Amino acid sequence: MGRSHSLSSPAAYGLSAAAPRYSLPAIALHWLMAALLLAQIAIGLYMVGLPKRTPAVAYYYGLHKSLGLLAFMLVMVRLWWRGRALAPRGDGLHFSALQEKAAQVSHRLLYACMVLIPLAGYLASSFGKHPVRFFGYALPQTGWENPLLQAFFRQFHAALAWLLCALIAVHVLAVARHLLTSGGLVLRRMLPHIER
Ligand code: HEM
Repeated sequence: MGRSHSLSSPAAYGLSAAAPRYSLPAIALHWLMAALLLAQIAIGLYMVGLPKRTPAVAYYYGLHKSLGLLAFMLVMVRLWWRGRALAPRGDGLHFSALQEKAAQVSHRLLYACMVLIPLAGYLASSFGKHPVRFFGYALPQTGWENPLLQAFFRQFHAALAWLLCALIAVHVLAVARHLLTSGGLVLRRMLPHIER
């Protein structure tokens, strides 16, 4: 007996519910990183506007640095994982050469930002007055007090954070576009399979 599928369902594109997806660890890492990056952008923008030398500044800067270092560790795990476990097959997905290239370039830039932003933030802090703490644990001081280098890495950190915002917007818009044209196949690859 034939089954009818709504045009927005992946089955309408010849794909079963068990279609290739990213592995569970890759999916978990992706959404954890997404949440961390958005939280970091929000905390970063909020804390730079706080009045200097207040307990709130110390608290939010400390939180921002700790979560940023955590994000750096997670992106290292993600890159290592990506090098071993490849992206799932693209069954049922049809991308033009231009779309493939755009996705590849934007993903590489996203990874570059995820690595360079925490590094620049760490360097800015290590050329400042306050030692970097990871959730209360003081890390060895790797720099020395140097206002010029601190200002340089701060600017670099902020500029890359804005680039990251633009890349996240492009990324979300691309997924939304696929949602309309391919029944959400692209998004489903990054969601866990739930048996019904
Ligand atoms: C994924 C990681 C991170 C993201 C997305 C991020 C994002 C941001 C953003 C959006 C700002 C505000 C920039 C501005 O408009 O001036 C900021 C500021 C800052 N971030 Fe990060 N950050 C990250 C990691 C880190 C890390 C690991 C450190 C240090 C260990 C750090 C240290 C700082 C400092 C010191 C500032 C304040 C700069 C200033 O006072 O001008 N960040 N960050």
